[in-house]
Amino acid sequence: MTVHTGRHFLQIPGPTNVPDRVLRAMDMPTMDHRGPEFAEIGFAVLAAMQRVFRTNQPVIIYPSSGTGAWEAAIVNTLAPGDKVLMAETGQFAVLWRGIADRFKLDVDFIPGDWRHGADLAQIEARLSADKAHKIKAVCVVHNETSTACVTDPRAVRKIMDDVKHPALLMVDTISGLGSLEYEHDAWGIDVSVAGSQKGLMLPPGLGFNVISDKALAASKQARLPRAFRCGSLPARCPHRRLPARRARATGGARSPARSGRPLRDRQRGWPKPMRARADARGTPVDLPRTTSRSPGVQADRKAQHRACDPAPR
Ligand SMILES: Cc1ncc(COP(=O)(O)O)c(C=O)c1O
Repeated sequence: MTVHTGRHFLQIPGPTNVPDRVLRAMDMPTMDHRGPEFAEIGFAVLAAMQRVFRTNQPVIIYPSSGTGAWEAAIVNTLAPGDKVLMAETGQFAVLWRGIADRFKLDVDFIPGDWRHGADLAQIEARLSADKAHKIKAVCVVHNETSTACVTDPRAVRKIMDDVKHPALLMVDTISGLGSLEYEHDAWGIDVSVAGSQKGLMLPPGLGFNVISDKALAASKQARLPRAFRCGSLPARCPHRRLPARRARATGGARSPARSGRPLRDRQRGWPKPMRARADARGTPVDLPRTTSRSPGVQADRKAQHRACDPAPR
């Protein structure tokens, strides 16, 4: 058996390394997750998360990975056969589409080359052509962790407003939140989807949804099978939308959503910047075209090949 000494240091764009003070905040005896002490923490955490998402809308926290938050966004707002517009920006967009397929949604998946953010011209064309408003949701990945391609949710919102399309705007900001600028309310997002283990620098295991009034109204019509509901949000009952486990860690997180500080810069002790290492190897970096390059994740073509190719190189 190999014995590793010292601290394991992850060098991936998430899970990120968890700061010591967050680890210390979690180091406490189990508390009654239905009791008053937890309620107090719960309200503080939900209020803090509203500040992170820059919203006055309800934040829902699921005991799930980001995948669970993807699923929650879909099952809480849509019905079988609903048409959704999604855009291929990388592996995570493909996986989110897979969930929509499994719930028997009618997915219009705008193809992409994994070197750009979502194709805005195609989104505009599809929405303009949809005079009957059959498209119920437009889903984009804000910060595509697999390709470092960014899609600006504001640009998608503007298109939807310009063509007066009433679909919900759902944004996966799983690695965007806390790493890139993000404003749920000001940007007119209907469902924000996030996870704990990226820009928030918490352990994996918490999924987040933030919902607009329009999404809350849509949840009343939603007819997909679901275990986690966002439809009834009891104001005085935080345990209904916040798992006790790791709540304290969430409370310990300090993540100004506006700072846009790259994940890379937030990794203290990062041995040598990825860009310098890739340059030294003579491999191209920054796969995405400049217009959609992420300030939060850096891509390395060689590393991507290693990750994606079945045969090792
Ligand atoms: C952009 C994006 N979306 C979705 C996911 C899926 O989240 P999880 O692996 O926590 O299920 C990830 C995870 O890396 C991600 O980076």
